[in-house]
Amino acid sequence: MMNEYELKQQICEIGKRIYNRNMVAANDGNISVKLNDNEFLCTPTGVSKGFMTPEYICKVDAQGNVIQANKGFKPSSEIKMHMRVYQKRPDVGAVVHAHPTFATAFAIAGIPLTQPIMPEAVIALGCVPIAEYGTPSTMEIPDNVEKYLPYYDAVLLESHGALTWSTDLLAAYHKMESVEFYAELLYKSKMLGGPKEFDKATVEKLYEIRRKFGMPGKHPADLCQNKGGTNCHNCGGSSCSGSVNADPKSVSPEVVAEITKQVLAQLGMK
Ligand code: 13P
Repeated sequence: MMNEYELKQQICEIGKRIYNRNMVAANDGNISVKLNDNEFLCTPTGVSKGFMTPEYICKVDAQGNVIQANKGFKPSSEIKMHMRVYQKRPDVGAVVHAHPTFATAFAIAGIPLTQPIMPEAVIALGCVPIAEYGTPSTMEIPDNVEKYLPYYDAVLLESHGALTWSTDLLAAYHKMESVEFYAELLYKSKMLGGPKEFDKATVEKLYEIRRKFGMPGKHPADLCQNKGGTNCHNCGGSSCSGSVNADPKSVSPEVVAEITKQVLAQLGMK
């Protein structure tokens, strides 16, 4: 387990990686790591995330208020977006926000990453929906991201960029790499006349691999709330039936809450 100073060093290292891999330009992007339920490390606002040293890193509480920050540094302007992820997903230990070229191009075009085109993307991500546009630094972004948090570990932010989260910082960063690689492949295969998509049976076999390995995080393989919608692979609900038939005790409270909400809405009782 890394100590606080080592985690600050790791945030700087990941900052360099996102900068050097064209995932952020100038001062864009932000990174946070959970220390415990009341303390979080985060990148400061308005600096290049490619040139940080550990003294740049700020510490905030669960509401995003400053606990410690060196002179001249203030927490990221998007800290509320990070805090919403930790609030709604107690299993999450780190959050990364970046503007990777291909993923952001899809976010700007308003096209979610839903086509099942290669095994790793299907297994690691399933599909990546787009959270509706919100003004940066306001509560609009956390509010629009919230509904995806129980089901995914990555979203595109409409006309803005991408947001990923996972158990630790390396895993959250790897999610960002996977999102960008998937977006790049999708873009390039569209240039070549369009990708050849996996059929439902092939997608289901890949989802089964994920389940078998007990991979952490949320994924459409575990629950597909977009049955019949446009935000998911063409699973035809095959991943939904797995959840419906599952032992009810294994269904998470978030899933129960979402299903209740949808039933009440359909009954006009919302
Ligand atoms: P901060 O430097 O305040 O973290 O903002 C960067 C950014 O990308 C906002 O979306």
